[in-house]
Amino acid sequence: MIIVNSKNKISELVSQLKQEGLKIGFVPTMGALHKGHISLVERALEDNERIFVSVFVNPTQFDNKQDLEKYPRTLERDVELLKTVSDTNIVVYAPTVEDIYSDNVNSTRFDFDGLEYEMEGEFRDGHFDGVGTIVKRLFEIVNPDNAYFGEKDFQQLQIIRKLVEKYNLSVNIVGCKIYREPSGLALSSRNERLKPEYKKTAPFIYKTLKAAKKKFGTKSAAKVTEWVKKQFAKNELLKLEYFTIANIETLKPVKRKSKHKKYRAFIAAYADDIRLIDNIALN
Ligand code: PAF
Repeated sequence: MIIVNSKNKISELVSQLKQEGLKIGFVPTMGALHKGHISLVERALEDNERIFVSVFVNPTQFDNKQDLEKYPRTLERDVELLKTVSDTNIVVYAPTVEDIYSDNVNSTRFDFDGLEYEMEGEFRDGHFDGVGTIVKRLFEIVNPDNAYFGEKDFQQLQIIRKLVEKYNLSVNIVGCKIYREPSGLALSSRNERLKPEYKKTAPFIYKTLKAAKKKFGTKSAAKVTEWVKKQFAKNELLKLEYFTIANIETLKPVKRKSKHKKYRAFIAAYADDIRLIDNIALN
């Protein structure tokens, strides 16, 4: 496995591989890899000859300093896990903050046509400017043919599609299905921090999403939302932050259903001090 810390080395490696006519897939991560990330790498290996995996805890996308400090950094374990998928076809890019930002650790301001103000954007100030900044830089460094993002962060996925469209970037964005634990809980590095009683109740989030999907077949978005809020009010451990049924293109909450539009339901909830998000396609 090749592990590289410098962007110049990555660019060199990429142009070499491209000259050989190899397709490059890219899976950006913040490390603390789990089966969800691995499923993205496996998916990427289906379409590309070489996969670049970046492992970088991006400071500019954290609105909370403590969260950034507490974020797990487990590069050695991450590399071991990636080796179980392929030892020869994966390149790990694990840069320092300096390699990416020099001495200007700030994000660029982006206009994502309003996608950035919905849901996560309302609760995490500046988050999507940070994501846009890092993903654009990583795309410029790695210059991949295809890049893979999980649908768990569906809003992020749509914002990255918008980034690619607005800046005319020559990368194909592939959205990948949410990887779930057998209980239904969407995989996240945060799950490991859940105390047992919270771990036990957390699958309630996906169960409620599935029930909401069923109800959305016959009921209005407002009625379904009301029902979901009631279910969470009865759960003593999980605190609902938001539940929204939104159009998948604009991410705006649906007022009146249309047969011709696609919708998803999105949830953010706190289990103790751990924030969990999830979503489900409704039609
Ligand atoms: O989804 C993530 O882990 C991050 O937001 C990403 C895309 C790697 C950018 O830092």
